[in-house]
Amino acid sequence: MKFFIDTANIDEIREAHALGVLAGVTTNPSLVAKEKNVSFHDRLKEITSLVQDSVSAEVISLDFEGMMKEAKVLSAIAPNITVKVPMTPDGLKAVSALTKENIKTNVTLIFSANQALLAARAGATYVSPFLGRLDDIGFNGMHLISDIADIFAIHDIQSEIIAASIRHPMHITEAALNGAHIATIPYKVLMQLFKHPLTDKGIEAFLADWNAREEA
Ligand code: E4P
Repeated sequence: MKFFIDTANIDEIREAHALGVLAGVTTNPSLVAKEKNVSFHDRLKEITSLVQDSVSAEVISLDFEGMMKEAKVLSAIAPNITVKVPMTPDGLKAVSALTKENIKTNVTLIFSANQALLAARAGATYVSPFLGRLDDIGFNGMHLISDIADIFAIHDIQSEIIAASIRHPMHITEAALNGAHIATIPYKVLMQLFKHPLTDKGIEAFLADWNAREEA
């Protein structure tokens, strides 16, 4: 399973990129709205010049024509832009049209296996099931990942599954075990993945022993 970062914050993206583990970036309108004093397109230019892998940028329009118009502008920003569209009939029409033009797409706000199957059949490069938001309302988001992974494997579907709406490190382990190709992770959770009390304790003990050694 690969790691994407789920943020529009350039400092977080820079830090994550420097770790050498990043395979892409996802943004959404809410994440972009948190960024003050920068235009969406300028921020996308910054991100795409830093990260050469897939950078998802979401359309705001809800109608096919509007989505296509936005998609053209977004994909002209850089060759590694992936156009993110919502899971609606117009969204899938746009996915189908963009796929024919070799523009990568990410279908977002997926909450059922049927939605994922539809998105994949429309040609989506990526499908994004939202784990955390399902957990929030008392459903098991991980079962959705597992169902989609099984269906894609049975039918030899090439769309990649992005485990989205990640809330904590166990989501990452379980998404990997359940067949997600990618997890898109908030910066805070990415940094939590490094943490283990025995690692900290081990470093402390090694340093203490080193400092107490007697030089020959
Ligand atoms: C994914 O592409 C979305 O941007 C994101 O994971 C949504 O997460 P949230 O439910 O924490 O807003």
